[in-house]
Amino acid sequence: MVKEQTTELQDIVSHCKKLGYIYQSSEIYGGLSAVYDYGPYGVLLKNNIKEYWWKAMVQMNENIVGLDSAIFMDPKVWKASGHVDAFNDPLVDNKDSKKRYRADQLIEDYIQKKIQKKIDKDVNKAHKRFGDSFDKQQFLDTDQRTIERTKKINGILSRMNKALNTGDLADLRQLIIDLEIVCPHSGSKNWTEVRQFNLMFSTQGGGATSEDVLYLRPETAQGIFVNFMNVWNTSRQKIPFGIAQIGKAFRNEIVARQFIFRMREFEQMEMQFFVKPGEQKKFYEYWKEMRMKWHLALGTPPENLRFHNHETLAHYADAALDIEFQFPFGFKELEGIHSRTDFDLSSHQELSGKKLQIQDIETKQHYVPYVVETSIGCDRMFLATLSQAYNIDLAPDSKGELKERVVLKLPPAIAPVKCAVLPVVRVNKALTKTAKKIFDEIKYSFNCQYDEKDAIGRRYRRQDQLGTPFCITVDEQTIEDNTVTLRERDTMKQERIPAEEIEKIVSKRVDMSSLLKQL
Ligand code: GAP
Repeated sequence: MVKEQTTELQDIVSHCKKLGYIYQSSEIYGGLSAVYDYGPYGVLLKNNIKEYWWKAMVQMNENIVGLDSAIFMDPKVWKASGHVDAFNDPLVDNKDSKKRYRADQLIEDYIQKKIQKKIDKDVNKAHKRFGDSFDKQQFLDTDQRTIERTKKINGILSRMNKALNTGDLADLRQLIIDLEIVCPHSGSKNWTEVRQFNLMFSTQGGGATSEDVLYLRPETAQGIFVNFMNVWNTSRQKIPFGIAQIGKAFRNEIVARQFIFRMREFEQMEMQFFVKPGEQKKFYEYWKEMRMKWHLALGTPPENLRFHNHETLAHYADAALDIEFQFPFGFKELEGIHSRTDFDLSSHQELSGKKLQIQDIETKQHYVPYVVETSIGCDRMFLATLSQAYNIDLAPDSKGELKERVVLKLPPAIAPVKCAVLPVVRVNKALTKTAKKIFDEIKYSFNCQYDEKDAIGRRYRRQDQLGTPFCITVDEQTIEDNTVTLRERDTMKQERIPAEEIEKIVSKRVDMSSLLKQL
């Protein structure tokens, strides 16, 4: 039975802390803002998400190879990539509260709270009125009030994007003033000028002079670009081919909010696909569809995912979009797909003086390949996965009364613990001995847990909260006929199976290949 619910971000944050998924960094010292540590279950789930991505990219595609490049790179890399000069956020301070904000986020929040919310409310009202026959798109296209509101949003966004792209910070500030945006803390409209703030963290290299500045990479992609020739020369790949990498990235996000959505230290899973100039559009469309499939294979309802095309493009891109997910705080970017032209390789070729060109087999012409990139934050994917999985439904207690239960409906293939082995009572030594024996046999095949503490109902609840898809219960009958009950997390249905078949049955149901086969 499913209880109607809306998940708040705070529910997820508390759940993560309570269950050992995520802790704030340096918590005993008050906590370091926007930096988080993954606990015993968090690290397992995160590793499984990475494994699913890696297998989908590298194992499933003969023309994609892996890489693990260093975090520190020659500072010239960041000059060529444009990060030294242009990797900035526009910041504005409120003079009364002394709080600092990202100007574009203040404007986007205004749109969300003051306009979009009203559209959503009207859509919901109309949905209730018309029931199943309701056509959302038709409503959005024809309802006069909604059309006016959408027009207003588009007007604000287009002025904001123009100001951002042309570096017109005065107009960005004017937009905040024209919209009468107030500081959420002081309630005042007393804003400073808008200034640009570079997001890269820097540190000193060996000599500790100003020339020895080293940056902590703000994206993993540049490690792939500067290794392009190394991989080309050693991997026997032909164009088109890709290089995939998972690794840490660092950004000095001034306004870091929303838990692990925007962090200062985070992990990216990026793939650069090198193609012939002129073929980028075809592969952009291909990767757009492939990446959406990857998300959908996890069982995420399609209505919680959407494409968002970038209206204005960065100077190096000829197409770009985000895959957005419906987080508890609204639809937000989860992954980016960018057609980056030959900008990065050409810039590195120019600044390094090293040729980053290959020869076309047919025309014999030399050219710098174009790049289509897919880039997803591992932590953001973690948050999306938990937001999707977090459910409160009703389950019978020991007296058969329905009580609320918190359950993480994680896809079994990426759940941290696949199976818990539970003797029905602790006092019966024959049961605990048998249960331990079963645990020791199946632990070679997948991650499982043995638990004999507390009443069986409480142990089920604990495994539900952890997201464990299967529980094996060992009872009196097990001693007689060597069968156990296999309980499924979401339906709570139990089936009796022979103990010697546990490994085979559970392995099949938690196998990651079931996800990969859908791609
Ligand atoms: N190489 C392209 C690139 O880095 P991006 O849109 O800046 O593009 C890609 O970042 C993805 O990395 C985002 O879609 C998001 O999932 C993740 N990401 C970016 N900044 C992040 C942050 N501060 N905290 C967590 N994840 C972040």
